[in-house]
Amino acid sequence: MDKSDKRGRFFMEKPKHHLFICSSSRVSGEPKGVCIRKDARDLILYVQTELNDRGMSDCIVSNTGCLKLCDHGPVMVIYPEGYWYGNISEDTIDQILDALEEGNSVEELLIQ
Ligand code: FES
Repeated sequence: MDKSDKRGRFFMEKPKHHLFICSSSRVSGEPKGVCIRKDARDLILYVQTELNDRGMSDCIVSNTGCLKLCDHGPVMVIYPEGYWYGNISEDTIDQILDALEEGNSVEELLIQ
């Protein structure tokens, strides 16, 4: 995804999909919240590995602070589509990425 300009300076293309996963991060330091207690960190690593394995280089992953839907945690949001998924796991991430590759969402996993 990195490119360089005429002067050889590297820059990153704007991603096609941006996946935000709540890791219960806090500006003040130690993460606190539901998602981090439900292994969100491991899920972020899993998503990154899956994106690499699938060659989905047009996607970028960021961890976030609380997305205010803790009852549905761990939560993942995909933009620009605006898909909000709750209770994500390795299994549901596989389904979500399968659908994303085809330009779809997994309706039954979306937070209503
Ligand atoms: S801690 Fe993840 S949504 Fe609140």
